Amino acid sequence: MQVSPPRQMDPLPRTQRALKVRGPSEVQLHEACPLPAFEDDEILVRVRCVAINPVDAKVLDMAPPVGATAGCEFAGDVVRVGRSVKHGRLKVGVAVFGFVWGSHSNRPDNGAFAEFVAVAGDLVYLLPPHLSYQQGASLGVALQTVGMGVYYLWRLRPPYAAGRGASGPGRRTARQETSGETQEMDATAPRHVSPSAAVGSSTRPPPSTPAMPREPGTGQYVLVYGGSTACGALALQMIRKSGLVPVCTCSARNFAMVKELGAQEAFDYHSPTCGDDIRRYTSDTLAYALDCITDLGSMRICYAAMGRGGGKYMGLNPVPLRAHSRRDIKPDYILVYTMFGKEVSLPRPFGRPARPKDRVFAEGWYRGTQTLVDTPGEIRPHPLDQGSGGLHGVIKGLDRMRKGDVSGVKLVYEL
Ligand SMILES: NC(=O)c1ccc[n+]([C@@H]2O[C@H](COP(=O)([O-])OP(=O)(O)OC[C@H]3O[C@@H](n4cnc5c(N)ncnc54)[C@H](OP(=O)(O)O)[C@@H]3O)[C@@H](O)[C@H]2O)c1
Repeated sequence: MQVSPPRQMDPLPRTQRALKVRGPSEVQLHEACPLPAFEDDEILVRVRCVAINPVDAKVLDMAPPVGATAGCEFAGDVVRVGRSVKHGRLKVGVAVFGFVWGSHSNRPDNGAFAEFVAVAGDLVYLLPPHLSYQQGASLGVALQTVGMGVYYLWRLRPPYAAGRGASGPGRRTARQETSGETQEMDATAPRHVSPSAAVGSSTRPPPSTPAMPREPGTGQYVLVYGGSTACGALALQMIRKSGLVPVCTCSARNFAMVKELGAQEAFDYHSPTCGDDIRRYTSDTLAYALDCITDLGSMRICYAAMGRGGGKYMGLNPVPLRAHSRRDIKPDYILVYTMFGKEVSLPRPFGRPARPKDRVFAEGWYRGTQTLVDTPGEIRPHPLDQGSGGLHGVIKGLDRMRKGDVSGVKLVYEL
């Protein structure tokens, strides 16, 4: 069989546009920043679309790392592949989405709000054809946060078939579709690519996912406080897939949405009887509460909802201990950044030592949930609110996020 020689790769520009942290609550567009240096186990991605996460605004407000590139959530096309990337389907031209540790003082050249982003080959999703770049960008942080909180710390039964690894077709970029040519490989990893090693066919058997012990029994209720948040909406879907019964709180205007996502019942957190109503509905048996808001009010409602036997409470923000009013409830707080396996060098209560085991879990979680991402209908992305203006628009979006002007949608911007 004749194999066509790889074409020259598109050259990379010398500089890129990027949003840099300027100071407290402030980012600024820089026109000529260096591209992020990428490690051997990373890929370099040309960013097509970004999403705004509350975390982006919070880091800016609380501990702004001046000069760092902002942004966590992105979708785009692979332009370079590091020489030790093991993922057989990560090739130049393949579309991907994910989450990077933006606004990071240890790596100021890398963040999602830029034209190029570097991401570990083990910690990224292939973007399947049925998802848009916008939808991909909207999923990165929520998928990992639910994984780390609900599936790592609580050890729920995984929402995908055990042992499943990467599968399904990757998406081809317009360039590949029109050229019909063999994909080029990264110059840093000169490998010969045969036409049979096209997107969607791995050169090795899919890796298995680590076994995850099970704890809560099938059919048990789980409360998702903030079911209309991006994290909550995904948690509802995943918890259903794990055979448990999610109930949630949100504003009444979002009841229909959360029920479509899997919530058996929804409760308006504005009601003074919200916690008691949930406790009654769940027959005093609730033992798990994921609090996607985590303030005094949300924690009080979760604690009031918890059944007579107590249980586990998981916050996505530092837990206000003033509201820890029951000794039969164990409160916990996760920080998704630990999934990178590196020290989280932020002030208390955010700082954490490096946790290599979190990284091991995260790699397995990416592989397992890729099977859900690949299957149309398995994961419903959050409704999108697409802003205009590219990186300029992102600055306005950060302000919107800060003002709390986001309900049941994800803010996304095309670059
Ligand atoms: N620990 C971590 O590693 C981690 C990771 C990711 C996110 N987070 C945090 O998790 C939280 C959720 O993030 P997200 O991206 O999922 O949020 P999001 O989608 O931006 O949240 C918007 C939603 O918040 C809801 N909301 C606001 N105040 C509320 C309250 N007092 N009670 C109930 N719902 C309320 C609104 O619901 P209604 O419109 O229905 O009222 C709105 O739909 C944020 O605080 C974020 O910083 C933490």
